[in-house]
Amino acid sequence: MCGIVGYCGPRAAAPILVEGLKRLEYRGYDSAGISVFHDDALNVVKRAGKINDLRAAVPDQFPGSVGIGHTRWATHGEVNDANAHPHLDDTGRIAIVHNGIIENFQTLKDRLESEGHQFASDTDSEVVAHLVSSLYDGDLEQAVKRAITLVKGTYGIVAMHLDEPDRLVGARNGSPLVLGIGENEMFLASDVTAIIAHTKQVIYVEDGEVVSINSSSYSTTDLRDNPIEKHVDVIGWELEEIEKAGYSHYMEKEIFEQPESITRATQGRLDFENATGHLGGLNMTNRELLEVERVKVIAAGTSYHAGMVAAYVLEHLARIPASAELASEVRYRNPIVERNSLYFAVSQSGETADTLYAMRELQRKGARVLGICNVVGSTIPRESDGGVYIHSGPEIAVASTKAFTSQMTAFYAFALVVARMRNLSYSDGLRFLQALDSVPEKIGRILDDITPIIALAKKYARAENFLFLGRGINYPVALEGALKLKEISYIHAEGFSAAEIKHGPIALINDQTPSFFLVPDDSLRDKVVTSMKEVKARGGPVIALAVEGDVEVGRIADDVVFVPSIDELFYPFLMVVPTQIFAYYCALERGCNVDQPRNLAKSVTVE
Ligand code: M6R
Repeated sequence: MCGIVGYCGPRAAAPILVEGLKRLEYRGYDSAGISVFHDDALNVVKRAGKINDLRAAVPDQFPGSVGIGHTRWATHGEVNDANAHPHLDDTGRIAIVHNGIIENFQTLKDRLESEGHQFASDTDSEVVAHLVSSLYDGDLEQAVKRAITLVKGTYGIVAMHLDEPDRLVGARNGSPLVLGIGENEMFLASDVTAIIAHTKQVIYVEDGEVVSINSSSYSTTDLRDNPIEKHVDVIGWELEEIEKAGYSHYMEKEIFEQPESITRATQGRLDFENATGHLGGLNMTNRELLEVERVKVIAAGTSYHAGMVAAYVLEHLARIPASAELASEVRYRNPIVERNSLYFAVSQSGETADTLYAMRELQRKGARVLGICNVVGSTIPRESDGGVYIHSGPEIAVASTKAFTSQMTAFYAFALVVARMRNLSYSDGLRFLQALDSVPEKIGRILDDITPIIALAKKYARAENFLFLGRGINYPVALEGALKLKEISYIHAEGFSAAEIKHGPIALINDQTPSFFLVPDDSLRDKVVTSMKEVKARGGPVIALAVEGDVEVGRIADDVVFVPSIDELFYPFLMVVPTQIFAYYCALERGCNVDQPRNLAKSVTVE
């Protein structure tokens, strides 16, 4: 969603800001802008459209070494130049950028307008500029502090004032903000990707904190001006990891990274000697783990699908009742937190508002919530009671791929830990570990030859409707396959349990509606094959993902792609990868913007 970057230092600010915004593109946005101090003026350039449009609009000579930039993902007001950030107050002396939503903006705006302020946009954010202006009496930090006590909602804000030309002030409530410390230069950003080219030393700003920077120093305080001692973190990955490394798209790169990213998710976590897993960050004793009577996973989108797989594995392996629920539904149904329940909040970004707010609500009710997240230092892991980082490395494509398989990996390791404390024998534990350990190599074999999947995409990319069908532990994979296809190729796709089609969806079957069946050689295989035959009998094209050697499925399906054989609980790993590749090539065939699909954002920080 929206992105922020700010710079204070000796270098020209505009190129640093535009470059930083470029690196934030992956989050999803529809307009962008920058504001830079120069010659007693705030020079602002804003454009609806892409960063390249903004870049083209910034004059070659755009001097000034302190400034702020923003990518906007519209929530209040249409996509146009005026609604893009930065927003100025009507004296033109203050500029702000804002991520989040100001819930009481209308009340504030009415009041400010009655005091004579004139607004230039339809956004909620502009109110912050006018509010800070109305409260300014020579100290920007104090004015920002006063303003945010009047604001209801979520924000990551950075403000600048002409009277303090070597200063930026940032504040955070529910929308990420990070301070980057360079050599005689300081940065503010909503995401470290915007600044990693310049520094790896960062401070994560927390809710309720205000940060003030100039080119050589920074301070962090609370709203009552109490100084806050902050820990300087060092970003643990390299700039190259957010480059495409020769791939055409980030999504392609991230699909191909999966053997490696899954291996990273298991590193130090597979204990072959004791046939169990080892997850250091859970912050739970063995006794506490033993007392867990049920597990609930809350998440959104792809992470929710990983949670559904996890629930299946936990029930099957550890015999712990487990379920997954959409985080967006949890907060508002007054969830019942039972004793000895353990919750997991799963999120690649660690910033998804639906998941974060559900987590807070559960914690408020006394629940223990562990996080399974990718982005180190993001809000969910920081606020959770413990958890597991999946260490996938930056996932830039909006369509989540490698995070899904690594989230599953973390859950499989957790399921093994709790299963081995209960009824799973040493030898069964060892077999499970060996199967988990074999996943990267088997995915590698699928990736070694993707030509059959590319051929499928070429054949079916013009379809307008698609069904994805699986059963048992592969039912969530059917949902995930459908989600991936729809979000990047805009083909309408739905996932169902293969058994459910006869209860309704089979009415959709005709010769224009292909069905993508997931057919592992597990205990439900024959039932899936029966569903395939039902679709065939009604003239629907059938694609099957089957296991090497399954000749019968090859005969029934119009097209088949084979995956290696593996223990039945592990098929989600091998089934999902071809669906990712299929979605990717369908999107290419249709000329879609694979990495930044329309209307979507990488990290959904509003409800
Ligand atoms: O960062 P999160 O894992 O919390 O994100 C959740 C969803 O927004 C995300 O998985 C979304 O569905 C992706 N676009 C799926 O590819």
